[in-house]
Amino acid sequence: MKKKLVSLALAAAMGMTLLAGCGGSTGSTGSEAAGTSSTAESAAASTAESAAASVAEGSSDLASAKVGVCIYQFADNFMTLFRQELESYLVAQGFDKGNITIVDGANDQATQSGQIDNFIADNVDVLIINLVNSSSAATVTDKVVEAGIPLVYINREPDADEQQRWTDNDWNVCYVGCDARQSGTFQGEIIADLGLDAVDFNKNGKIDYIMIEGDPENVDAAYRTEFSVKALTDAGLEVNCLDDQVGMWDQVKGAELVANSLSQHGTDIEVVFCNNDAMALGALQSIQSAGRKVGEDIYLVGVDALTEVVQYVIDGSITGTVFNNHFAQADGAADAAINYLTGAGNEHNIQCDYTKVTADNAQEILDSLS
Ligand code: BGC
Repeated sequence: MKKKLVSLALAAAMGMTLLAGCGGSTGSTGSEAAGTSSTAESAAASTAESAAASVAEGSSDLASAKVGVCIYQFADNFMTLFRQELESYLVAQGFDKGNITIVDGANDQATQSGQIDNFIADNVDVLIINLVNSSSAATVTDKVVEAGIPLVYINREPDADEQQRWTDNDWNVCYVGCDARQSGTFQGEIIADLGLDAVDFNKNGKIDYIMIEGDPENVDAAYRTEFSVKALTDAGLEVNCLDDQVGMWDQVKGAELVANSLSQHGTDIEVVFCNNDAMALGALQSIQSAGRKVGEDIYLVGVDALTEVVQYVIDGSITGTVFNNHFAQADGAADAAINYLTGAGNEHNIQCDYTKVTADNAQEILDSLS
């Protein structure tokens, strides 16, 4: 049975605008809401709790529970690894594969919102959502909570105001992910650790870099951009941003943008930072086409630790990457869903760690991926 929400807090306008351009800054910090909790009662929360309790009572096994999973876009290398792990982990925990439905939002919020409506109409027991637009979080939360369905957000972290509402209303809603600031810091440290002499090919005393950013709908893009550069300046290095472009997490776009930048700035570019590995793979193609050689006259860093990229780190074609632990995130999201279904409940913000990947540990990371 559905209950009306006691109150609909004003959804903060959370559209974090990321203006690509050297020296850009980040928006609000979603994970600042981490760990807070509240005893505030709400009708919606108790509805969700009783739904979870009935699942727990009705089936000590999870085989009959229906799980709806929304992925922002299947054509995303990282989210493909994530959803494969999510499904296999859920099955390993006792869910029936036939009761797990994973849908492709095709990078369109209207499509995804329709899919969420269908899951609600289908009475799924829990929803795991990788939003297309982070700014839709409040609307999505409201309708899912009103339907009494517990909700686990993944990959695109709703902002602090939105997370505060989950806490204030004691809703069965949480976010599971890694703190992207850490991944940016690791990217910058990989370059800083090489030392100015090794990186400063043009001997102007600065690290001359270009930045290829992911989709601003994911706060990871802004954080990685900001914290990679911050790690350099924190290490006492002077930086010079030659170009900063949005590549939307996409290999082909990454290749195009880096090719353009290389033709404009040539050998002045010493470091290429990519917010993810798909774009780093594109960057590598363009670096090679321009006759440049990573490790000899340019450096290249990504994030995710896609198998192909880790292999390139081993052979020296890519300087480094950062392991975006899709196992921990997918398993953590599934565990959070289970905790709601069994009535155990969750903290509202569940974080995991990234791992720096350089030639020193790349083989070990590669082994752990298979
Ligand atoms: C990953 C990207 C991915 C994006 C999707 C990021 O955390 O690093 O590879 O494209 O999430 O939102």
